[in-house]
Amino acid sequence: MTVVGAGNVGATAAQEIAGRDYAEVVLVDIKEGLPQGKALDIDQAGPVLGYEPTVRGSNGYEETAGSAVVVITAGLPRKPGMSRDDLVTTNEEIVRSCASAAAEQSPDAVLVIVSNPLDAMCHVARKVTGWPRERVVGMAGILDTARFRTFVAWETGSSAKDVTAMVLGGHGDQMVPVVSATTVGGIPLTKLVAADRIEQMVERTRKGGGEIVELLGTSAWYAPGAAAAEMVDAICLDQKRILPCTAYLEGEYGIDGLYMGVPVKLGARGVEEIVELDLTDAERAELEASSAAVREVVGVLQHGG
Ligand code: LAC
Repeated sequence: MTVVGAGNVGATAAQEIAGRDYAEVVLVDIKEGLPQGKALDIDQAGPVLGYEPTVRGSNGYEETAGSAVVVITAGLPRKPGMSRDDLVTTNEEIVRSCASAAAEQSPDAVLVIVSNPLDAMCHVARKVTGWPRERVVGMAGILDTARFRTFVAWETGSSAKDVTAMVLGGHGDQMVPVVSATTVGGIPLTKLVAADRIEQMVERTRKGGGEIVELLGTSAWYAPGAAAAEMVDAICLDQKRILPCTAYLEGEYGIDGLYMGVPVKLGARGVEEIVELDLTDAERAELEASSAAVREVVGVLQHGG
């Protein structure tokens, strides 16, 4: 498999995947020495951590040929005060060139887009490759859901492992943590936590990426890298996981012609199914509002959506 972009998110994803010990990983970046150096470092952790050193770094795409999955993380990250949407014009060009170069070498791959603004960058990758929607999918929902699950675990004094949740919609401040589908060990969250505390967790989740940008001066990488690796597992190992991913909707959830976060069955063929949850009326309205925000960013793309 291939990871394009050897920045913090790309390198973390490569490291996570290498640690699983089932794939050969090629890490690509235009910056000379960067992917080679990070690949070497990840490989040299292998003997200590117990995986084979099979990560290679490259400044070109020839070495990526025949990848089953290509994860695209290339692009500028946010700085404090920036929204993800502020990156659209710069990252459109970067994602266009990376996606098309990677697709040429691995015409049967599944593309997992991670670059921001995420939903719009999925449109860019799909447009430039011309691939079917099954094989161009975005990573956001697992990350946003992981943030929500963390807050719920803290609030309820439970293990994060027992918190089940789904954050849907666009990867922006209008994302939709689906409270009606959130449980702790099978018990609905609404039975465990007061409405105003739930609302605070929802708000913190919506601003979760920004909270970290303010603290670090750049975007998060541990949770984003781990989330991308979970998608790679599902695809490479044909796990048929149902995970919140950014998929191209053609009428599902009443939304047509737009990439949005929804529950997806993810397997070797990529998006094998889009799962339609029963949402409350309020959640549906929030999803609608989120889709309008995504459409606005897609409308700014230089090469169309
Ligand atoms: C975040 C960035 C990666 O949510 O979008 O942290």
